[in-house]
Amino acid sequence: MTTDVVEMLKEPRMIKICAPMVRYSKLQFRTLVRRYGCDICFTPMILADSFVQSSKARDNEFTTHEKDQPLIVQFAAKTVNDFVDASEMVAPYCNGVDLNCGCPQRWAMQEGYGADLLRKPELVKDLVYQVRNRIPRPFTVSAKIRLLKDIRQTITLCQTLEKADASFLTIHARTPEMRNEPIDLDKLKLLRDHVQLPLVANGDAKSLESAESLFKESGCEGVMSARGILTNPALFSGHSATPLACVQDWLDITSTVPIEFQCFHHHLVFMLEKILPRTERLLFNSLQNKSSVLEFLDSYYNIKPNASDSMELTRCNFSASRVRCKEKYINCWEDDSSTNFLGCIFNTDL
Ligand SMILES: Cc1cc2nc3c(=O)[nH]c(=O)nc-3n(C[C@H](O)[C@H](O)[C@H](O)COP(=O)(O)O)c2cc1C
Repeated sequence: MTTDVVEMLKEPRMIKICAPMVRYSKLQFRTLVRRYGCDICFTPMILADSFVQSSKARDNEFTTHEKDQPLIVQFAAKTVNDFVDASEMVAPYCNGVDLNCGCPQRWAMQEGYGADLLRKPELVKDLVYQVRNRIPRPFTVSAKIRLLKDIRQTITLCQTLEKADASFLTIHARTPEMRNEPIDLDKLKLLRDHVQLPLVANGDAKSLESAESLFKESGCEGVMSARGILTNPALFSGHSATPLACVQDWLDITSTVPIEFQCFHHHLVFMLEKILPRTERLLFNSLQNKSSVLEFLDSYYNIKPNASDSMELTRCNFSASRVRCKEKYINCWEDDSSTNFLGCIFNTDL
């Protein structure tokens, strides 16, 4: 399977995408959803400035392994330097970076991140354009946006991103003010009509059927799911609720690549939400440590973790990757051949 995201988005089928989710779309969860038909995964949103400044932040926020592809790393950024530097550091270990232009949380808006960027098209253009100019294709540079109240402004923003040479855009078809209301499909279709870039539709894909109808009705190339895939990681393979095999896979994956208890447990709480009866669910949700969770799953479902194939994490040498990234880029130009430059592909062996 190709890891070229733009090529994938040219395929006539629906491209199935796991959303960026703070705390949740980590390596272990990405490994799980890839087993159930997910084509592309996003990391949780990572603050570009702390990623650049702190090796601790980098180690905490980003882990991957060689099968964790195609992978898009999402950053919250508001300065060109931070976004470029963070993107260069992570480029050898992923297939693209994404700019978060949708987070509606108060802290993000106050700090000038996320949905605050929707009001600053020129800055967004610069952020995307500068990364595009520094890191050669097929590495992608994309943005995930929400709708603005005025659809003409949303169209202008998307067209600005098109001019900045963005690879694709994800549209969460709600305004920052809309919380749990249904998505605005009509506005999504209008965007589709006015934007040439590949588009990913996001919002309310809670089953394979609803994802497919969003795909068909919106005319977008891909569909991204967040809450739906948290509740049912097997959503894209057509299961209407989490199959027990998926719970088994979660135990196996997390016994191979450990994850902190709270995250391990939260995922199970989401996955079992629709399949455990109420009394058992309340009991399960109140469990406080891994051994009681494993005991519950063993006695209730007869599921125990199996040692699965070992999964060697990729050793990321971020500081070296920036330097190498620049060298490679310069070498490409020194060849003085645009075909060489365009053919220059980022390998993990950079
Ligand atoms: C727990 C959680 C964490 C999220 N974190 C992010 C994030 O890091 N970056 C982002 O762009 N959106 C984030 N979102 C928004 C989702 O990616 C998505 O746009 C939104 O939930 C709508 O999709 P849905 O209807 O499929 O849930 C998050 C959503 C949830 C539920």
